[in-house]
Amino acid sequence: MGRAILPPMSQPDATPTPEQAPAEPTPDPSAVAHPRAIGIDVGGTGVKAAVVDLVTGELVSPRIREKTPQPATPEAVIETVGLIVDRLAEGGHLDPTMPAGAGLPGVVKHGRLVTAANIDKAWLDYPATAALEERLGRAVRLINDADAAGLAEVAFGAARGVPGTVLLLTIGTGIGSALLINGRLLDSTEFGHVPYRRKDVELWISGAARERRAIGWRRWAGEFSEYLALLEKWFWPDLIILGGGVSKQHASYAKWLKSRAPIVTARFLNTSGIIGAALAAGGHEEAPVD
Ligand code: BGC
Repeated sequence: MGRAILPPMSQPDATPTPEQAPAEPTPDPSAVAHPRAIGIDVGGTGVKAAVVDLVTGELVSPRIREKTPQPATPEAVIETVGLIVDRLAEGGHLDPTMPAGAGLPGVVKHGRLVTAANIDKAWLDYPATAALEERLGRAVRLINDADAAGLAEVAFGAARGVPGTVLLLTIGTGIGSALLINGRLLDSTEFGHVPYRRKDVELWISGAARERRAIGWRRWAGEFSEYLALLEKWFWPDLIILGGGVSKQHASYAKWLKSRAPIVTARFLNTSGIIGAALAAGGHEEAPVD
């Protein structure tokens, strides 16, 4: 990768002298390789997609959602994605050169998932990019779902222009993570698999785990604070962003959460996966190498 696209991020630590100061970067749609891309978010319960304006981050088509097929094998999910994209095409929202990005809940390497904690194991090593490209008839990039959320937040949301280390955690079926250092994404951090009480932490305190254990918000927040303390001991984030389904309920737990760094809720709760996947497809400069 390396096509610098959008939006230009501030370099927070550098204080240029006036003669060094670059002109205020202005997004120039004509300079963008792909001004729009299809963003696809494959989740445990829903598959969602929309066309995203890569300059503004706005959805410029309806957001179409279908239930994730069960079992969520690659073939079944790819067919669902295909039907959603067909509907976007029928609605006149696509052009043939528009690339597509797909966010998936696992580590992505070379167009395949190499971990599959919360998705059908048949995805492991399945040639997902190639199969999606064949079904959709266009260029496709895969990205981890939490990394996609990180791209969306750094480009247009709560991490935009924030200096230092920003830790984004998505709390839903599992726990996903994105680590941003002065606006640059360190991909595939997988902090949902940090050991906690002898298990992966997401098995205790993801949204799904909280419901399975039937624990209240106060207890959940206490345990989540212990988890944050572990991460803070190692990474010293300057800002913590919480996203994913659980973050919508922050009013229920915020008063019991403790951390050294300030905690904010992600700007994009339902659409970060879509926006971030589209940014990756459009060649955002922080998109991980696939
Ligand atoms: C996966 C991550 C993913 C997270 C949220 C975890 O189980 O390992 O890759 O980001 O769930 O979906």
